[in-house]
Amino acid sequence: MSELDEARQVINDCDREMAALFEKRMAAVRRVADYKRETGMPVLDAAREAEVIARNAALLTDPALEREYAAFERAVMAASRAYQHRLLGDLHVSCGGGEYDIVLSRGVLAHAGEELNLKRRVLLVTDSGVPTQYVRTVAAQCQTPVVATVPQGEASKNFRNFEKLCGIMLQNGFTRADCVVAVGGGVVGDLAGFVAASFMRGVDFYNIPTTLLSQVDSSIGGKVAVDMNGVKNPVGAFKQPAKVLIDPDVLSTLTHRQYAAGMAEAIKMAATHDPVLFALLEERGGEAPAEEVIDRALRIKRAVVVEDEKEGGLRRVLNFGHTVGHGIESRAAGTLMHGECVALGMLPMCAPTVRARLLALYEKLGLPTVIPFSTDEIWGAVMHDKKLSGGDITYVWVDEIGSFTFKTLPAEEFRTLLRGEIGR
Ligand SMILES: NC(=O)c1ccc[n+]([C@@H]2O[C@H](COP(=O)([O-])OP(=O)(O)OC[C@H]3O[C@@H](n4cnc5c(N)ncnc54)[C@H](O)[C@@H]3O)[C@@H](O)[C@H]2O)c1
Repeated sequence: MSELDEARQVINDCDREMAALFEKRMAAVRRVADYKRETGMPVLDAAREAEVIARNAALLTDPALEREYAAFERAVMAASRAYQHRLLGDLHVSCGGGEYDIVLSRGVLAHAGEELNLKRRVLLVTDSGVPTQYVRTVAAQCQTPVVATVPQGEASKNFRNFEKLCGIMLQNGFTRADCVVAVGGGVVGDLAGFVAASFMRGVDFYNIPTTLLSQVDSSIGGKVAVDMNGVKNPVGAFKQPAKVLIDPDVLSTLTHRQYAAGMAEAIKMAATHDPVLFALLEERGGEAPAEEVIDRALRIKRAVVVEDEKEGGLRRVLNFGHTVGHGIESRAAGTLMHGECVALGMLPMCAPTVRARLLALYEKLGLPTVIPFSTDEIWGAVMHDKKLSGGDITYVWVDEIGSFTFKTLPAEEFRTLLRGEIGR
């Protein structure tokens, strides 16, 4: 046996022993989770974790391994926490870019100070269409709040506002220890998140989404960006929030149209993953309980982003409806909402039976049912979309509600397919 084989044999033996010990440790973690369920204790006990890491470091006989052992311990604890969250049914996200809780609870806005660390400088970003009472409620719970309001609408997701917000942070003496809080829809979340990702190379970011669309989709997953030269999201970052607070009560001030637009992203999740959610939406339309819709949609999105944080594969499923939808959105120049464009963008990307069900659902919700442009009119914007690589377009196709496939076609063939589906 070579030296390498011998060393690998030892590693294999260690792994076998560690697998058995891991199972034993997780059995104990299950008991801890049961206890926490009964007592309402939080999963994370940072003080205990720090104490355990320090204590265990002393078990080592080779101090040169201390750093690696601490990293190993932290990974084991993160896995244990993720397991507890799963057992407790919590909405918790754990991926390479970070670990965070999603608190979905009516009235949580009034308790933001208990959920978030606001005892520092806080840049609260909102837009002119978000009722001011929401940002005021959060500001009242901050030690040093600075409120920045950008004009409402997609056009605000731009470099000018990005620079303006960074400038406000500089002027007000923000440091790396301070934070940014988004109080608004997807526009505010994407813009504020990009500021948080960039200022001082990254400060804490909390997201408090106030539209249905941002509550079911954009507030988690860490994609933040601004638009540029009429193209959506070409410049951005992956910045996971430190926590997301979702208060369904704030949805009461949305217009019917805004609410329906948010439903489009929930329909996207349902169409690709969840026949039960789709059936609920078909049955109840806009009357479907918001908490259930948000909870089910977020669990789908969480599963996707945890598996593929940076869109190397599976995460592209969240683009269902977006390849064509972004083209429609660019061409519509503000006359259609993002969710409406996504709804329209799903129509040519599915089998006729699925399309019929989507159309019936759109009618019920008051979403648009006809793409108001020809293929040629949106083609330029579809081509600009960053999902185009090497002359091919990869898109998501739904043959049956609850499942999907990825398909790839050369751009010109995709254009022909689109002409056929759109009818012009
Ligand atoms: N980062 C992601 O993963 C992701 C995913 C999906 C969409 N997005 C982005 O999200 C954006 C669309 O988000 P959106 O649909 O929330 O649009 P939006 O942020 O423009 O909000 C829509 C409108 O609702 C108003 N508003 C917000 N909260 C309100 C409330 N509680 N009551 C009354 N009015 C309220 C806003 O002022 C705005 O006029 C797009 O830019 C899209 O690209 C991002």
